[in-house]
Amino acid sequence: MTGLLERLEELRAHDLATHGGRTLAYVYDSGLADADEVGRRALASYASSNGLDPTAFPSLLTMENELVGNALRLLDAPATGVGTVTSGGTESVLLAVQAARDARPGLPEPSMVLPSTAHAAFHKAAHYFGVRPVLVPVRGDFRADVDAMRAAVDDSTVLVVASAPSYAHGVVDPVTDIAAIATEHGIRCHVDACIGGWVLPYAARLGRDVAPWTFAVDGVTSISVDLHKYAYTPKGASLLLHRTPALRKAQFFASAEWPGYTMLNSTMQSTKSGGPLAAAWAVVGTIGDDGYADLTAQVLDGMDRLLAGLAELPALHVVAHPDSTLVALGTDGSCDVFTIADEMVSRGWYVQPQLTHDGHAPTLHLTLSAATAPHVEEFLSVLAEAVTVAVETGPVQVDPGVADFVRALDPSALSDDDFDGLLATVGMDGSSGSVLPERMAEVNALLDLAAPALREALLVAFLDRLSRPAPSTW
Ligand SMILES: Cc1ncc(COP(=O)(O)O)c(C=O)c1O
Repeated sequence: MTGLLERLEELRAHDLATHGGRTLAYVYDSGLADADEVGRRALASYASSNGLDPTAFPSLLTMENELVGNALRLLDAPATGVGTVTSGGTESVLLAVQAARDARPGLPEPSMVLPSTAHAAFHKAAHYFGVRPVLVPVRGDFRADVDAMRAAVDDSTVLVVASAPSYAHGVVDPVTDIAAIATEHGIRCHVDACIGGWVLPYAARLGRDVAPWTFAVDGVTSISVDLHKYAYTPKGASLLLHRTPALRKAQFFASAEWPGYTMLNSTMQSTKSGGPLAAAWAVVGTIGDDGYADLTAQVLDGMDRLLAGLAELPALHVVAHPDSTLVALGTDGSCDVFTIADEMVSRGWYVQPQLTHDGHAPTLHLTLSAATAPHVEEFLSVLAEAVTVAVETGPVQVDPGVADFVRALDPSALSDDDFDGLLATVGMDGSSGSVLPERMAEVNALLDLAAPALREALLVAFLDRLSRPAPSTW
């Protein structure tokens, strides 16, 4: 048995670091070893319990109701507020859209109005549930355009959406005005605070300027907030909160149309581990309100130092002044973000490239955790080195013929063989023995030229080639 646990550690050595503060996307590190330990123990001890039936595992219901009650208080909900623990931000968003759709059963072609910066989870919801997304371009400051959203609402609209903040640019949409549109039309308004919901309330308490976005805003009917992000709990825990039980009702599913137990679910999963819920309960309780206020103070102080340091790097600029702990960086054209990202990886830091969207140039995304805050100065000096190398190298030059070819490709006309050929050209066919080429800049530069539909198709083909059965090594 020990051998396999050691093997797990060997396998994990190829992953991004989850702790230490040098991974600025995907992971959230409080830097609190005791809270991490409590989370790991709770996760392990509840791994086999089953959230399928709260009467069979009442401890899970107790923990869920306590977590929901705590979050409703944090987010200014009225006494009528209710909520559900889900497996993550995407599931919370999916359920918010599904509930909005199913609360209007007579509507033949339901739609939802989204700022163009809304998380891709809403596109997934649109795809799964047949709710047409009406995408409204954002303003120059990357916040939702309220007038354009109002104009986009029609009789088919079941939901309007705001982000607090958006993932890609880290800015909070004008929630008060978007919620007012919902009230005017008698429809729902969901605030996606998956990534900011555990930071912004504490930021406000610390005296930072935070525009209203919680249930204190009239017309906000539901909010998603992830515990596995800034509540620093192990992965697999988010909250979907509703202003009233009536708004939540359509989210629940029951089926007695078969000979077994009557299926009764509050979430998309049926059998589900109690582990992430127990871990979230234990970590939120361990860190506590004062602990989160401290962590938020640390990370916001880190953001201030980060923004001040970035101002000293002339090749980079902050795309939108961040309202929370996420920032997008653009370049002045002397270098590209893809080369910078590779240079950072080779120095032990992960930052996430974001490709061209809606005519806006690619950016580098940074999510700051509390554990990164003490290392901001080191991060800035490594970033300065990476930028210097990237300026010396210059932006990746894609051969104009190849660029024209990529721009003209129609994904619907491509066969599997075509995809094989394209993936092999950029070293993403696995033939090099590793999942990805060592440097991603050239691949990203090519993907950046591809229209969204081609990007999606290429990456789906890539994932398909990656996900193939392998001989076991145990
Ligand atoms: C604003 C926002 N919404 C939704 C999600 C999706 O969350 P998850 O990755 O936990 O499914 C994210 C993830 O970063 C997010 O930032």
